[in-house]
Amino acid sequence: MADVPVLLSGIRRVLFSQKKDRESILFSIQSSIFNFRMHHFHYIKDELYCEDVPVTTVAEKVGTPFYLYSHATLMQHFKAFDGAFSGMKHLTCFSMKSNSNMAILRLFSSLGGGVDIVSGGELYRALKAGVEPVKIVYSGVGKGVADLEYALRSGILMFNAESAQEILKLNEVAERIGKRARVAIRVNPDVDPKTHPYISTGLKENKFGIDIDEALEQYSVAASLNGLHVAGVSCHIGSQLTEVSPFLDALRKLMRLIGRLREMGISIGYLDLGGGLGITYDREDPPHPEEYARAIQSELGTSDLTLILEPGRVIVGNAGVLVTRVLYTKPTKEKMFFVVDAAMNDLMRPSLYNSYHAIQPVKVSGREKVMADIVGPICESGDFLAKGREVERFDPGDLMSVMSAGAYGFSMSSTYNSRPKICEVMVKGDRFYIIRERERFEDLIRGEAIPDFLKEGQEARQGGLG
Ligand SMILES: Cc1ncc(COP(=O)(O)O)c(C=O)c1O
Repeated sequence: MADVPVLLSGIRRVLFSQKKDRESILFSIQSSIFNFRMHHFHYIKDELYCEDVPVTTVAEKVGTPFYLYSHATLMQHFKAFDGAFSGMKHLTCFSMKSNSNMAILRLFSSLGGGVDIVSGGELYRALKAGVEPVKIVYSGVGKGVADLEYALRSGILMFNAESAQEILKLNEVAERIGKRARVAIRVNPDVDPKTHPYISTGLKENKFGIDIDEALEQYSVAASLNGLHVAGVSCHIGSQLTEVSPFLDALRKLMRLIGRLREMGISIGYLDLGGGLGITYDREDPPHPEEYARAIQSELGTSDLTLILEPGRVIVGNAGVLVTRVLYTKPTKEKMFFVVDAAMNDLMRPSLYNSYHAIQPVKVSGREKVMADIVGPICESGDFLAKGREVERFDPGDLMSVMSAGAYGFSMSSTYNSRPKICEVMVKGDRFYIIRERERFEDLIRGEAIPDFLKEGQEARQGGLG
């Protein structure tokens, strides 16, 4: 249960940190406790468990590699986040791009959550999982006509429009099918989220949202259109933020905008602050959701706005791991390579962002430590899960767990190198459930076709398309 050394090290970190005032010490201790209880992956007698299930047991049943999620952790994180806003009128719309498995969507929806979507495919999944349409918000810079129509007909809560042309297109679609679309403008507030450039979204140079300086003009347009009902203001400044201040900078700008809109007679009911709260992958010390919520509340004061939050990573990131098996160990003159059966197509984050995921043995052997690269079977030098990492000297056949892989793990996976997508498993207590089957080779070629002229030999081949 309790991992006392982790708690103590968290408290030690707080006491020796720069933060000296009582409030921030209190929050940091809370945050350590949150981190300390942040997931239900733990060792019993040197063996890694997810809740009450040994990880080895799951590997024996489903093979490797696979994603493994803890139901208790998912619940705990959703409740911790949503509960932090309980003093405010709010809706937590889980950002399903971080993890779109239907079982996970159903779980959050059963806890009262909605979702933030960015495509027609995500809408389809959400509806199939049982998410209520009136709890769905739709962001994204490139919403196509078919997807706009699908979302309108489904009766979603709100479209977060990201360009002047999208506002007009949404109006056109709504008028054509005799509906009125509730719309917010996703504003680009030009705030630096101080995170990886690929996941910064609220700077002027980013493609997202409408420049805050042009927002008033676009709101006037939207308010004049018969197919639209202006309902809110939204923004999302980036992901994996480890400080509260950028959120507050953005919020202040949005509140000023809402004030101006009200003066113009445009009333705003929803304030969508997006997602972005970070997690601990390595040594990061992000704010606890309580601290984040309290800071927002004090900025908002006694506002009558309904707050929408779009958290993704903070809820699922530390609730899932990727389990993989060592295929080969490969010592070279330069370094040691552990070649495992998971690859960049299964977990893209290390290759894409050079991001850190802790590597833990599923059975602690007590062998000496070595510096190694953990690499996959894909034909790219960029195919790695960890680089220059001090890990146990693994042997072929050993299982390892790539930690904090619940967000942007499976959802970003592909079949590159014709590797079937891997399976996903959820543990609840002492039982586990396959929530997505491992794909088979047949799934790889589903939908592909060889035209007759290629089947029929030389003569047909010369006939061409015409
Ligand atoms: C519009 C929007 N909302 C919410 C999120 C979720 O961010 P996070 O997983 O960091 O909470 C994203 C992620 O990129 C996003 O683009």
